[in-house]
Amino acid sequence: MSNPQLSIVIPTFKERGNVAELLRRLDAALAGIAWEAIFVDDNSPDGTAQLVKQIARADGRVRCLRRVGRRGLAGACIEGMLSSAAPYVAVMDADLQHDEKVLPAMLARLTGGGADLVAATRYVEGGSAASFSGQRGAISVLATRLTRRLVGTPLSDPMSGFFMMRRDRFDELAPRLSPVGFKILLDIATTGGGRLRIAEQPYHFGERFDGESKFNAQIGVEFLGLLLAKMSGDLVDPRFIFFALVGAIGLVVHLVALRLSLWLLPDTGDLFRLAQALATFIAMISNFLLNNELTYRDRRLKGWAMLRGFVLFCLIGSVGVLANIDLASWLYVDQSRWLLAGTAGAVMSALWNYAMSTLFVWRAR
Ligand code: GDD
Ligand code: MN
Repeated sequence: MSNPQLSIVIPTFKERGNVAELLRRLDAALAGIAWEAIFVDDNSPDGTAQLVKQIARADGRVRCLRRVGRRGLAGACIEGMLSSAAPYVAVMDADLQHDEKVLPAMLARLTGGGADLVAATRYVEGGSAASFSGQRGAISVLATRLTRRLVGTPLSDPMSGFFMMRRDRFDELAPRLSPVGFKILLDIATTGGGRLRIAEQPYHFGERFDGESKFNAQIGVEFLGLLLAKMSGDLVDPRFIFFALVGAIGLVVHLVALRLSLWLLPDTGDLFRLAQALATFIAMISNFLLNNELTYRDRRLKGWAMLRGFVLFCLIGSVGVLANIDLASWLYVDQSRWLLAGTAGAVMSALWNYAMSTLFVWRAR
């Protein structure tokens, strides 16, 4: 076999029923091109990796990168692309929704030297997404509009997970890409900025061949995080944005709990202190649970570890409050400085809580 000119990275999670058919179609579509397929499987319980490796023993063009203890589409694509030594790399789904027949045309655009990246698109003349169910189609169109408005991308289909690019350009960008979420193409295009020459290739988005979609609400939330991070010019980590969002929700929870406590608790003289303490506790619980579900979902605590984490979270929070008050009082020289002092104190404690929570409560395993 000659050295591959094109690596096709195929992220998989529970796609056993699609592997053989996909390889058959790639083989037919890519006749005359030296290609290889790199499957990146997140330890699917259906044995996708085992099947790929079994095929790989007989077919040198097929490889499998099996990841354990990790999940995530973007991260899987990045690692697969990083493992390629070919001059060109493509990413496509395993479920046959992406039309492999457009791959040679995409490759020709790159080898012709006119582009660094070719994005397959459903939303220009010659492309379509007819097979999307009504609701998924609407979400996709909405997310596309939102993205174009917020981050101003040259892509007509920024949500697409189907593209091909020069490997050297990918290698340059790789250290700055986020392994979180579903939207690898959007991340590459925005991170590359104006320096990446992008072309588009229309295609018809087909039906899933076997198995089911892994799209869910969590992925939608992560996508918002990516958008916000890109809007801030990558200054702010998406994880911190969620942490701050949870904090803002916590404030609302606190005020509602305070109002209710003032109504419902019997007045034994020190009602406000009691109500404020109770509201603080409730807000802490709400913040902890939301962070556990959202901000640190990939490191989610369960069982006893959750209780231990909660106690630590409260301790960190109380130190944060003290530091907040100290800083704010130091900045507050007279009435006119109240807004500055108050904001600085709050921002300081949010940063402190975030840093300490990441280091100690939800530490990376
Ligand atoms: N390794 C790995 N890890 N692969 C994953 C994971 C994961 O956590 N989640 C999904 N995949 C793989 C699937 O096995 C499939 O090959 C591919 O990623 C796409 O997942 P689907 O579950 O089929 O997603 P979809 O069809 O709902 O959405 C796709 O099409 C959309 C429209 O183009 C994705 O490509 C989206 O990114 C895209 O917006
Ligand atoms: Mn799919």
